[in-house]
Amino acid sequence: MSTNPSKSSVDKFTFGLWTVGWQARDPFGDATRPALDPVEIVTRLAELGAYGVTFHDDDLIPFGSDDKARAQHIDRFKKALAATGMKVPMATTNLFTHPVFKDGAFTSNDRGVRRFALRKVMRNLDLAAELGASTYVFWGGREGAEYDGAKDVRTALDRFREGMNTLTSYCKERGYALRFAIEPKPNEPRGDILLPTIGHALAFIDTLEHKEMVGLNPEVGHEQMAGLNFVHGIAQALWHKKLFHIDLNGQRGIKYDQDLVFGHGDLLNAFFLVDLLETAGYDGPRHFDYKPSRTEDLAGVWVSAAANMRMYRLLRERAAKFRQDPEVQAAMRDARLPELAQGTLGKGETIADLLRDKSAYETFDANAAGARGCGFVRLNQLAVEHVLGAR
Ligand code: GCO
Ligand code: MN
Ligand code: MN
Repeated sequence: MSTNPSKSSVDKFTFGLWTVGWQARDPFGDATRPALDPVEIVTRLAELGAYGVTFHDDDLIPFGSDDKARAQHIDRFKKALAATGMKVPMATTNLFTHPVFKDGAFTSNDRGVRRFALRKVMRNLDLAAELGASTYVFWGGREGAEYDGAKDVRTALDRFREGMNTLTSYCKERGYALRFAIEPKPNEPRGDILLPTIGHALAFIDTLEHKEMVGLNPEVGHEQMAGLNFVHGIAQALWHKKLFHIDLNGQRGIKYDQDLVFGHGDLLNAFFLVDLLETAGYDGPRHFDYKPSRTEDLAGVWVSAAANMRMYRLLRERAAKFRQDPEVQAAMRDARLPELAQGTLGKGETIADLLRDKSAYETFDANAAGARGCGFVRLNQLAVEHVLGAR
């Protein structure tokens, strides 16, 4: 009964209910679009060829709903999933909208708020497991501060860790096959957010009780807001085997979180990101966490949703052609890319061997090596030409 074309199902393109459902309220202006029913979102995204949807508890079940209303919301959603064949590979918790979370959830100075947050997550973990999700995202948007004296960061990290340890234990106790994915962000809505980058989050994960259950959900724009190279961040996350999920979108430089369509920000970085995901064998969802711009009406919302998937497919096609181009392959060899895969020490070579090797130091011509061009610009020009469809 799936309305998904099989080709796109393979692509595992997913969208948060909160993305296309965003009514475009910002700190300066009111909503420019009407609210969308989650059932309509599921149906429209299925028609566009998406694989699935993701949600925060409150996207599906308005905060404060009683048990009866809650059950009705869940039931309608399940029916829409069944009718369309759409999957729910990921779910998450809204720990940022209600005023109770103004000073954070797991790291609020107020202990009652911390306990409430844990219970809110547990309740939605039950639903995530029931809907067959395999990843549970933790975006700590309110875990942070505006004033350095207002948050004891070391103690806050203790509480963050306590929260994560409690929740991984809860999943183990219940037998849920969920893995957690932490989503770093440097700022917004807090002045400074804890675990601001991929690197901070990786180091934090290493201190957790069930660290094998916890990885990352990096977002393009969030690293770029900090001026960091997203492709490098994803490469390191892959290297640590911690890329559990990914939020794709677009960002133009160091400014507020734009959540543009994927590829509408730093296009070249998006090209190399797709190249990396496809060649590294990342097989998780390609999750679009974008916001249809405030200028768009509902028709524009669906145009922008389709644009994300089309951008990914176009970049994937261009990246494959780039790799297959004999001139690119020659440029890569000239740029000594294959040589980096060679160990710096030979197989079985000892430190004593290295010290004895006169060609490594005494007779090594550092000036000649320093004078030799690397050929990186030629390689990059070829990449840009492939992106432009000029080759
Ligand atoms: C952002 C974040 C959020 C989170 C989402 C999951 O744009 O600041 O990406 O959209 O991903 O809320 O909790
Ligand atoms: Mn964002
Ligand atoms: Mn996100």
